[in-house]
Amino acid sequence: MSERVYVFDTTLRDGEQAAGSRLDVREKLDIAHQLARLNVDIIEAGFPQSSPQDFEAVRILCAEIQGPVICALSRAVLPDIDKCGEALRGGTRTRIHTGLGVSDVHVMGKFGDAKYGTTLAAKKAKLLDMAIKAVRHAKGYTADVEFYAEDSGRADRAFLFEVLQGVIEAGATVLNIPDTTGYAVPEQYGALIRDIRVHVPGAAGVTVSAHCHDDLGMAVANSLAAVANGARQVEGTINGIGERAGNAAIEEVVMALRTRADVFGVETAINTREFCRTSRMVADAFHMTVPPNKAIVGPNAFAHSSGIHVDGVLKQRETYEIMSPEDVGAQESRVVLTARTGHHGLKHRLEKLGHRLSETELDRVYQRFLVVADKKREVFDEDLNAIIRDEIHPVPETFRMEYLNTTAGTGTIPTATVRIRRGAQATQQAACGDGPIDAAYQAISAATGIEVKLTGYDIRAVSAGKDALGEVTVRLEPAKGSAVLGRGASTDIIEASARAYLDGLNRIVAEQG
Ligand code: KIV
Ligand code: ZN
Repeated sequence: MSERVYVFDTTLRDGEQAAGSRLDVREKLDIAHQLARLNVDIIEAGFPQSSPQDFEAVRILCAEIQGPVICALSRAVLPDIDKCGEALRGGTRTRIHTGLGVSDVHVMGKFGDAKYGTTLAAKKAKLLDMAIKAVRHAKGYTADVEFYAEDSGRADRAFLFEVLQGVIEAGATVLNIPDTTGYAVPEQYGALIRDIRVHVPGAAGVTVSAHCHDDLGMAVANSLAAVANGARQVEGTINGIGERAGNAAIEEVVMALRTRADVFGVETAINTREFCRTSRMVADAFHMTVPPNKAIVGPNAFAHSSGIHVDGVLKQRETYEIMSPEDVGAQESRVVLTARTGHHGLKHRLEKLGHRLSETELDRVYQRFLVVADKKREVFDEDLNAIIRDEIHPVPETFRMEYLNTTAGTGTIPTATVRIRRGAQATQQAACGDGPIDAAYQAISAATGIEVKLTGYDIRAVSAGKDALGEVTVRLEPAKGSAVLGRGASTDIIEASARAYLDGLNRIVAEQG
């Protein structure tokens, strides 16, 4: 029997720290259902003290998700831990993940205030005490307590080992050794894991966990080196999303462990056939595109095009393939829906995609589906995900577009006319611009009376074909308050652009109350 490596998914916490990302609770729940189908061992659902939304996400996941342990993050301070305890209260399998920075840079920087001591040595003594107290406090809420020693990759070993010994004695059951800044290289990180297991008293009796960031492109390699040296939990995110360059990509770590079981001699419980579906769902929710050449889940990860390769694969697949596409769900039928697909067929497909809707929500999605299916011959999964985002996760619709007409072409001045409804009042405005989209934005600004700076515009086709849905994301900066992202999808890119702009304005109104 191979030893088991546990998979700790932090897509909803560290992944959500990716620049410009924010999921609502419902989106988190949909992804968590899919992570449960993928059979990850632990889902880190959020940092309850950081926001009411994170608190709610942890609480809802505890109530709804069966199977994986639900984990909540905290700093090593008692009020944070109390918030985790409160959010996890309804769960059956729960974990608190608490910790603090241990490298000298973190000790002097994050804990620079004199209340933590005035010398490096005094601060370290204070942090050791805080770490121990945090773990003891967390044990009051759950037996399963993970401690993270942030920036272990750059930490002074003597202090790191002292902290780890202290928290083991306080009851920590998992030791997380984050390479927070992605500074480590595989040989060094592997050796660190080995030395912790050998030299820290008590470490052999707890699980050592790898948590690697990808700043130097080595997060997966470092995680594998950790497993080779005795780590029995790996932390990562789907598609490797996360803070800065992101985290270790779970699909890559797991498939490397599986494909090279001859080297690692371990196994995970992951249902690898769910990888592609999970990857698409996460990319979609975070509004990211999976690069075509992304290992395991990229659209081209199993595509052969050169004559020699195609010929070789057709004769014998193993010539150029080390994994089969079915094993990661790459050949999962991308069932194509058409206008003739009924309510029932749509519901079934949506459930396969991880969307559980109430009957009223399903009706709404079905109506929108029919409109799209009428314009496109085939509706793909990606189209459905875009429809779901528009219909089920919208921001409160203060402004609603009732009408949009644009004219553009060689020799004409681009103009747009819009009618925007706010409650009982509808306002019509026309404007000219540099192009039809600019004209539509001018007209919408005039109709809503909200001036913003457009600081980002991105368009992508969410599925294949010339009749694909186009999805537009805009970044809008209001005169006061922080920037927002707005999204909109349509087969008509001018309409998608206008919907995205209006979505951004609705978001600004919602955030500013
Ligand atoms: O990278 C890191 O150090 C973390 C911890 C908060 C676990 O994400
Ligand atoms: Zn991290």
